[in-house]
Amino acid sequence: MSYTPAPRDPKAPLVRINLLSDTQTRPTPAMREAMARAEVGDEQIGDDPTVNLLCQRVAELLGKEAAVFMPSGTMCNVAATLAYCRPGDEILAHATAHVIAREGGAHAALGGFQITPLSGDDGQFAPETFRAALHPRSRYQPPQVLVSVEQTANIGGGTIWKKSALDEIVGIAKAHGLATHMDGARLLNACVATGISARDMAAGWDSAWIDFSKGLGAPIGGVIAGSRDFIDEVWRWKQRLGGSMRQAGICAAACIHALDHHVDRLADDHANARALARGLSQIDGIEVQQPETNLVFFKPDGAGVAGDNMVAELGRRGVLLAMMDGRIRACTHLDVTAGMIEETVGLVREIVRRA
Ligand SMILES: Cc1ncc(COP(=O)(O)O)c(C=O)c1O
Repeated sequence: MSYTPAPRDPKAPLVRINLLSDTQTRPTPAMREAMARAEVGDEQIGDDPTVNLLCQRVAELLGKEAAVFMPSGTMCNVAATLAYCRPGDEILAHATAHVIAREGGAHAALGGFQITPLSGDDGQFAPETFRAALHPRSRYQPPQVLVSVEQTANIGGGTIWKKSALDEIVGIAKAHGLATHMDGARLLNACVATGISARDMAAGWDSAWIDFSKGLGAPIGGVIAGSRDFIDEVWRWKQRLGGSMRQAGICAAACIHALDHHVDRLADDHANARALARGLSQIDGIEVQQPETNLVFFKPDGAGVAGDNMVAELGRRGVLLAMMDGRIRACTHLDVTAGMIEETVGLVREIVRRA
């Protein structure tokens, strides 16, 4: 698993087309206006009305009792696992999951838990794989406490977990006394792509969260939802981790604006991702994973250009994307237009021709 975001070379050309990540979105003028108008208070003592409204809206959206605003999606995962588990406990997640691969080892460093990586295609494990990894409680084996899934699965290619698989995993987990956590960094992408509501996607899951700083276009923030008791415990960890804030309503206003204006338009990102995949797959030798949402993974090696070289060549032409796990990942979002996709395909074609 490799992903090292390199610092930008100050002499690199201006980025014209930014396909690096949906985290690269900039707040729109309307979002900035909403932020400027936000009513604020002291979030840490529960006095920020805009944060409170955001939490209420997300709790309703996800069909849970309560919710809490966090500075980042990573903190949603870290605080949730800390709330569920004790040192020595075991979490089960897909081998490519963010909780395993991209949170700086927080679960081990801060919680002393172990995570069992489950295998499976496209960032998803089959319910049977999960069932097979469970063991009876005994003094010899670590207590299995939590199962976590990513909807959508990032490194899997932005793939969507089927509702039937999610339900099956919840059923198995409950039968074995495990809690269930949904990393919903891109949950709304899955909802828009399938037409299944966020409430239904998260139904049965003890906790779920959504990220506002990705395709939704806000500068900061995730909101995690669950039972009132669970959220109280997450609040304790948020305080311990230094994540409690003050006049955070300015940021929450951006998130509310995103809920009102940037959810349905995720369909445009998905259409752009499909157009990119279609264009790339028409170039001989380029291997493309068909996107289900806004992430497009491809390998140009068969066309005579190594992935690293393709990323570097595109970078010289002002197109930013990254290698992830031996493939190139392109991510569509709010600041990417259909024209930019067409131009990117044209540039890839030109680089392959020259090679
Ligand atoms: C699946 C998944 N979970 C969690 C995160 C962490 O979110 P954040 O960048 O807001 O900390 C990411 C970020 O890319 C992600 O892709």
